[in-house]
Amino acid sequence: MAMTAISVVVVMTFALMAMAVMAQGPWDTADATFYGDMSGNATMGGTCGYGNLFEHGYGLSNTALSTVLFNDGEMCGACFELKCVAGPDRCKEGSTIVTATSFCPPAPVSLCNPPQKHFDLSMAMYMNIAKANNSGSIPVQFRRVPCVREGDIGFEFRGNPFWISVQVYNVAGSGDVANLSVRGSNTTWVPMTRSWGQRWQLSFRPEMVGQSLSFQVTTGDNNTVESVDVAPANWQFGQRYTGGQF
Ligand SMILES: *[C@@H]1O[C@H](CO)[C@@H](O)[C@H](O)[C@H]1NC(C)=O
Ligand SMILES: *[C@@H]1O[C@H](CO)[C@@H](O)[C@H](O)[C@H]1NC(C)=O
Ligand SMILES: *[C@@H]1O[C@H](CO)[C@@H](O)[C@H](O)[C@H]1NC(C)=O
Ligand SMILES: *[C@@H]1O[C@H](CO)[C@@H](O)[C@H](O)[C@H]1NC(C)=O
Ligand SMILES: *[C@@H]1O[C@H](CO)[C@@H](O)[C@H](O)[C@H]1NC(C)=O
Repeated sequence: MAMTAISVVVVMTFALMAMAVMAQGPWDTADATFYGDMSGNATMGGTCGYGNLFEHGYGLSNTALSTVLFNDGEMCGACFELKCVAGPDRCKEGSTIVTATSFCPPAPVSLCNPPQKHFDLSMAMYMNIAKANNSGSIPVQFRRVPCVREGDIGFEFRGNPFWISVQVYNVAGSGDVANLSVRGSNTTWVPMTRSWGQRWQLSFRPEMVGQSLSFQVTTGDNNTVESVDVAPANWQFGQRYTGGQF
């Protein structure tokens, strides 16, 4: 009897999880290049604000996005599956999955200029789908896919008491944070505003220092996860706290 009840709970939990998983997007076309070398060092510290990508759960599975894909930073953290469609001479079979971690800026002559959809991949991800490192810009098909992450959502504190700044990282589900709210143990929910990428700010709320903090993360597909008291009352600038996950 008890076993049956547990099974029902397990089945229901899986059903709810399945509902929460974002659907894969439709295939679209773009082009892809790479920057840096196989170490991926050049891809660290990108525009989304994650800093060292190995410390924030992304590693080499990363890409910079052209203007039309980047969407002013909202696509930071979103996951894309890419496959090369330049034919068997230039393409490897299969696909690669990357997280958006940077912006490929427009330039006088650039494949990243609007209206082009362009992925500037880490070299390691490019070499997953291209046969040679001198294949240049390759046509690809791509689609949004759910992000698979290990562990919980991370909140890295930056700034100072008068300009509290939080980098949100390692977000599963659709991955792209659309809205972030914070609640101090002694306050109601306060919306934060996007500084850039996935760096969010809260101006002139110094009373938040010394309170334990909870966060509501809403992704672009309008799912919300609440992380209660992830930062203890003695939270510090420069520290990372984790809790909650899609
Ligand atoms: C990449 O960075 C790591 C750590 O800073 C360093 O040890 C390594 O030599 C770098 N590799 C290249 C190719 O620059
Ligand atoms: C590109 O591939 C060639 C041949 O395999 C190799 O000699 C070269 O070092 C590679 N370039 C980079 C940047 O890794
Ligand atoms: C909580 O807020 C109340 C009312 O604003 C204030 O009087 C009190 O000192 C606050 N407590 C803490 C621990 O911040
Ligand atoms: C994020 O917040 C803005 C402003 O409140 C709202 O217009 C928008 O619909 C929200 N987006 C999502 C995905 O909830
Ligand atoms: C997001 O979901 C909430 C309820 O969960 C709904 O009230 C709101 O309209 C939705 N917003 C968008 C932008 O879909």
